[in-house]
Amino acid sequence: MRVAIAFCVAVLPLVIGITWNPPDNIVDFSLYQIYPRSYKDSDGNGIGDLRGIIERLDHFTESNVEAVWLSPIYRSPMVDFGYDISNYKEIDPIFGTMEDFEELLKAAHDRNLSVLMDFVPNHTSDQHEWFQKSLQGIPPYDSYYVWHAGRMENGVRVPPNNWVSQMRGSAWQWKDERQAYYLHQFSIQQPDLNYYSPDVRREMKDVLKFWLDKGVDGFRVDAMIFLYEDKRFLNEPLSGLTDDPNDYDYTVKIYTTNQQPTYDIIPTWRQVLDKYEQPKYLMLEVYSNVSDTMKYYHYGADFPFNFYTITNLTRNSNAADIQYVVESWYDNMPEGCTPNWVTGNHDQHRLISRLGEPRARAITTTVLLLPGVIVTYYGEEIGMIDEYISWEDTVDPEGCRAGKEHYLTSSRDPERTPFQWDDSVSAGFSSNPHTWLPVNEDYKTLNLAHEKKEKNSYYALYEKLSALKRSQYLKEAMLVTKVLDDYVFAVARETEDHGSVYAISNFGDTDSIVDLSVFDNIPSKLNVYYASAISDILPWESVIQIRRVTIPAGSVVILTTPNADFVTD
Ligand code: NOJ
Repeated sequence: MRVAIAFCVAVLPLVIGITWNPPDNIVDFSLYQIYPRSYKDSDGNGIGDLRGIIERLDHFTESNVEAVWLSPIYRSPMVDFGYDISNYKEIDPIFGTMEDFEELLKAAHDRNLSVLMDFVPNHTSDQHEWFQKSLQGIPPYDSYYVWHAGRMENGVRVPPNNWVSQMRGSAWQWKDERQAYYLHQFSIQQPDLNYYSPDVRREMKDVLKFWLDKGVDGFRVDAMIFLYEDKRFLNEPLSGLTDDPNDYDYTVKIYTTNQQPTYDIIPTWRQVLDKYEQPKYLMLEVYSNVSDTMKYYHYGADFPFNFYTITNLTRNSNAADIQYVVESWYDNMPEGCTPNWVTGNHDQHRLISRLGEPRARAITTTVLLLPGVIVTYYGEEIGMIDEYISWEDTVDPEGCRAGKEHYLTSSRDPERTPFQWDDSVSAGFSSNPHTWLPVNEDYKTLNLAHEKKEKNSYYALYEKLSALKRSQYLKEAMLVTKVLDDYVFAVARETEDHGSVYAISNFGDTDSIVDLSVFDNIPSKLNVYYASAISDILPWESVIQIRRVTIPAGSVVILTTPNADFVTD
């Protein structure tokens, strides 16, 4: 891998940055996560659905999105809003029918839009037929889940070990019918499948095949790291981070995550995918340390998701921190692989709510210019923010389980509110004024229709950058990043014959004057392609000298070389 850390003399005594030449074979597109309950409601019941997505497919074309990933739409009791599946081969009626899905797939493909499903292999719903049969001990289902008789402590039966569920409390649940505990690494209603069973492995490959035969383009794999547990069922060591044995962070997950067989199963899925003529993608949800994360690249996944902008940046981060985040992925990723950048999802506070708007703009700008796959969580293209949801309105199982005292720190409802299309009833999401989660109060001004009219809106920035990302010339262009000032970060994509683009983000409180001659191959004059601060300093389409460029506080500026072909290609 050609990652060079460059130190040059410029405005700052040291200008830190990287250069990276994307290999030809990497996957490069903009992927959009649809949370179907919240994208668009077509039938007025206050919950988003498949026909709603069909109605609003143009939004993806207009936003230069090349692929969408649908959070689960399978039949489900909806305890975890679809991540508890009771039938992997049916569409939940709340979202529509299989015919609706097929129509959606065709309409998407007609627009050259790939469709990825959410594959949830770690657990099913406790309402799944397999679990119901397992409960009754009916072969072969009796071994489909992780059952354990527990152990006796002072004459009382207790769970086999100290494993903790992600949703608080013991990861074991007793069942009288079976006279045993079952493992659930998430909610009680999400029993973990037993991957040591060949029948389970076969069933899940069959699920992949079912959707691939329908024509889907790949999968986001949910909760990848939890697939296998160590068979000895030993206690996990205490982390020392908290005294609360019900807190997920109470133990270090050496027996319940990233077990070797979890890696080994990926090539068996890859084999299923590779039987199809068109490329099929496998993207894994992995929150782990760097080495455990990067290891997934070696087993046939396109990539483990890169959550660094979520886990490693804060409201206080400076430009060097952003540089470090970018560099860390390139430095640690195996050679020839596809980088990727996820800035938000349905489990994390929204980007702007986490980092504040100036830093969020800087991150959006940066990732959209990075090679590889970038993942936009619905609503982030218009800069949606978290909404306060009261305890009475809380529906997320993680929030509910935390209780009234603690739900605000655990609930994922704030980042799941309906998409804000316009300023009409329920932000144009639904004709129903009552939606499954309340619409954010700011929708009258923060909505897509409004932002389309504003030259410097969040959406305008997103749309401009995603147009650049789509350009074939830029997909092949060399990446150069630079820290230009404490709070000024620059990312450039340079081509030899088709021009170059430079995006400079100043997320500090004061204007900053930067010297862009620190970029080796830069011409002396550049065109202003976009400037988020409307000012006389950098009018759009003006030409500027590169030696002293004023980047207004809290703004983003995108500059192109005069010979830039990609602006129109
Ligand atoms: C990760 C998903 O993103 C999250 O929403 C879900 O609750 C858990 N996995 C369990 O499926």
